[in-house]
Amino acid sequence: MSRRYFAACTLGLEEVLQSELAALGATAFEPGRGGVRFAGDTRIAMAACLWLRSAIRVQEEITIDEVHSEEQLYQLVRAVRWERFLGCDDTLAVDAALRDSFLTHSRYAAQLVKDAIVDRFRDRDGRRPSVDTADPVLPVFLHLARNSATLYVDLGGESLHKRGYRDVQVKSPLNESLAAGLLLASDWDRRSPLCDPMCGSATILIEAAWLAGDRAPGLNRRFAFERWRDFDSATWQSLLAEAKARAQRGAAAIPPLEGADRHGGAIGIARRSVRAAGVERAIRLVESDVATYVPGIAPRMVVTNPPYGERIGEGDDLEASWRSLGEFFRRWPGLTAWVLSGNPETTRFLRLSASRKLVVRNGPIDCRFLRYEIDADREPAPMPAKKRLPGH
Ligand SMILES: C[S@@+](CC[C@H](N)C(=O)[O-])C[C@H]1O[C@@H](n2cnc3c(N)ncnc32)[C@H](O)[C@@H]1O
Repeated sequence: MSRRYFAACTLGLEEVLQSELAALGATAFEPGRGGVRFAGDTRIAMAACLWLRSAIRVQEEITIDEVHSEEQLYQLVRAVRWERFLGCDDTLAVDAALRDSFLTHSRYAAQLVKDAIVDRFRDRDGRRPSVDTADPVLPVFLHLARNSATLYVDLGGESLHKRGYRDVQVKSPLNESLAAGLLLASDWDRRSPLCDPMCGSATILIEAAWLAGDRAPGLNRRFAFERWRDFDSATWQSLLAEAKARAQRGAAAIPPLEGADRHGGAIGIARRSVRAAGVERAIRLVESDVATYVPGIAPRMVVTNPPYGERIGEGDDLEASWRSLGEFFRRWPGLTAWVLSGNPETTRFLRLSASRKLVVRNGPIDCRFLRYEIDADREPAPMPAKKRLPGH
């Protein structure tokens, strides 16, 4: 049975997300700001949670209708067959977003939706599900724009960017879904060696390893839909078995990946995450300033996310770091480098002109994902005097 869904992503990655959905067999796309509506059956919806790299959420549209009053909204919600998902002993949580509507407080709207759901159960069974905002069996979401109400249930539960390999929070990590989306938006062929000379906790490198190794990003985690009453366990088990087989076959195809960071603490966290992601054989990590960094592989492709002063506060030193990064690129004629920048002031210290640009949002910051090409015929910039560093 075909149903309607909405997959959400970071602003700017909508096209990438739609290509991912098309590869899974989804149809009837309606791209919007920060996401794509699509049609598919339950298998496609579960595969979306398991396989989408750039998405942060997948939601099923339960009902859409016009409502002009609280009473109409209440009746719309109450008429839904919630017993498809929940029993009286289960839990739910409701969130709401409102725009230009007769309701002005999202908390109040969420409460009204919750009441309508639990009243349906109480009238049928004499008992009702309870609320659990931390780990609900059924996360419900109301979107009320003017008089148009849409109710969704969230298939993932926790955001899909939580892959399960990051155990500690680092200072300014790149969201996993954004890192994967940037790799998909770049022209990396997934077979050439890739380097991130300012790798922080190695999110780009880990996502690159999983992408090249055909490893489903959701393989290590649980999803909300696994606890629903209509959960199709047989289809899910077959999706999981296929994903495990693909990851096993794909591991041998991961090209050499390498990263450096001058911050020893970041490299320590990166090593732990790389191990937790099961890709330590593919990724080499080095503690080094980019100014003195000589990779163990000749990089053909760089994807990197240098600091841009908004969140790390590296101050004056930013100019030196960006200059050194530009110099690093110029040592490798034929190199393609993709740089995520949130600050045009720092970007100009690269002293290179971008050949392509994608506008994306990184948290609250409007960023540019910029491509630089180093002419294959140019004289390479000299290597730093420092000796090659051994790998880990
Ligand atoms: C925005 S963070 C990268 C975050 C990373 N993408 C992640 O997922 O964790 C920028 C990183 O650049 C590193 N960095 C800054 N200046 C550097 C330099 N001159 N050489 C090497 N690393 C540098 C910082 O230590 C920091 O980890």
